[in-house]
Amino acid sequence: MAARSADPIPFIDLQAQRRALGDRIDTAIVRVLQSGQFIMGPEVSRFEAELAEFAGAPFALSCANGTDAIALPLMAWEIGPGDAIFCPSFTFVASAEVIPWFGATPVFVDIDPNSFNMSPASLEAAILAVKAKDALVPRVVIAVDLFGQCADYPALTEIARAHGMKLIADSAQSFGATLHGHHPVHWADVQTTSFFPAKPLGAYGDGGAVLMKDRDLAEIIDSLRIHGKASPSDIAAANFTHDARYWNMRVGMNSRLDAIQAAILREKLTIFTRELEMRQTIAERYSARLRDHVRRTPDIIAGGTSTWAQYTIEVDTRDQLVARLADEGIPTAIYYPLPLHQQECYARLSERPVSLEISEAKAGTVLSLPMHPYLTPEIQDRIIAVFEHETKSARTDVLAPAQDGLPFRFDGVYTSENPFPTTAGCGPLA
Ligand SMILES: Cc1ncc(COP(=O)(O)O)c(C=O)c1O
Repeated sequence: MAARSADPIPFIDLQAQRRALGDRIDTAIVRVLQSGQFIMGPEVSRFEAELAEFAGAPFALSCANGTDAIALPLMAWEIGPGDAIFCPSFTFVASAEVIPWFGATPVFVDIDPNSFNMSPASLEAAILAVKAKDALVPRVVIAVDLFGQCADYPALTEIARAHGMKLIADSAQSFGATLHGHHPVHWADVQTTSFFPAKPLGAYGDGGAVLMKDRDLAEIIDSLRIHGKASPSDIAAANFTHDARYWNMRVGMNSRLDAIQAAILREKLTIFTRELEMRQTIAERYSARLRDHVRRTPDIIAGGTSTWAQYTIEVDTRDQLVARLADEGIPTAIYYPLPLHQQECYARLSERPVSLEISEAKAGTVLSLPMHPYLTPEIQDRIIAVFEHETKSARTDVLAPAQDGLPFRFDGVYTSENPFPTTAGCGPLA
């Protein structure tokens, strides 16, 4: 195989993106420094308007991170003890972490084996089981758009509505992905995202956003993210005797986006659509070349697009592959090695009324490869070559006993074009 390059490959190359933007980020930061407005302000409101327009959402409100973005609607809906909140077990912990913050109970749901996203059938079964037990009230579904693609929103929405529940789309990994041409906020009551630097639309620090259609909800969330400040409706309805900024109408939190992050995100948003196309090209190239060398390459839901936050394959001999890739300077990641219901504190706090066997099985086979819009074909070839080489070695191993026990031996050459040589090139054993 190709000689090992001296340079290790980054998992995500944020510097390549910075180079692509030229001095635009630096200029944007200087603009904020000169404005002297570092928290909220016009830079943040402009970013929110641009974000809302991008996603076709009537309202977009930024906040401090993608975890708060999920917590804010739960707070607005006054979720509390006795409430059941349904979410997948195979996700980043933040999707479930916010539930016990309010004293509510996470109810874990299994995933669809093709998309890694919440299984509508498992959700329905979990809701019915919770209702039958009659100890908790089903209130909210938190669907997660894992690895870059949308969950099955038409099916999940139908179930949530049928049971009188709210639906949150946790799009922290997948902001920008669509299903049948729509962003998840088209179906969900609330779509949330994270601007953690490694996300497809990432800042240079923490950040998050909540997108929604309902004006009243937007007003409440705007209040909650700033310590429960008086909203325009509160001000119109009350006879304030003090500066309205110091009227706190509800118990809220401090979850605001820095103006510098908003300015950076505004620049990144201008190239985001192009970057999503670049990610798509890279993902297609990976899939075409890896298909014959791994247990499975990613499947995208019919009618959907992916942001390819992760390019996640499934493999049989994961430890061996991770070690071989590491030998070649290629980093990998396992998202996620342990489903949440198997983590001690979530096992204790949650309800698990349905089988979570698909989540458990996937935790043993998933492997994410380097993925970012600026991954070059040369670097991708280096990554793919490791898989091709592993296949060749495995096939040599499989055929090796034939040298002793069967009447044919292989004298030809294994290539990626011809990984399964037929008897052509084989001769009878001497
Ligand atoms: C699925 C999912 N939800 C929520 C979050 C939380 O976002 P943040 O790190 O900005 O709080 C993440 C972030 O990694 C995530 O992957």
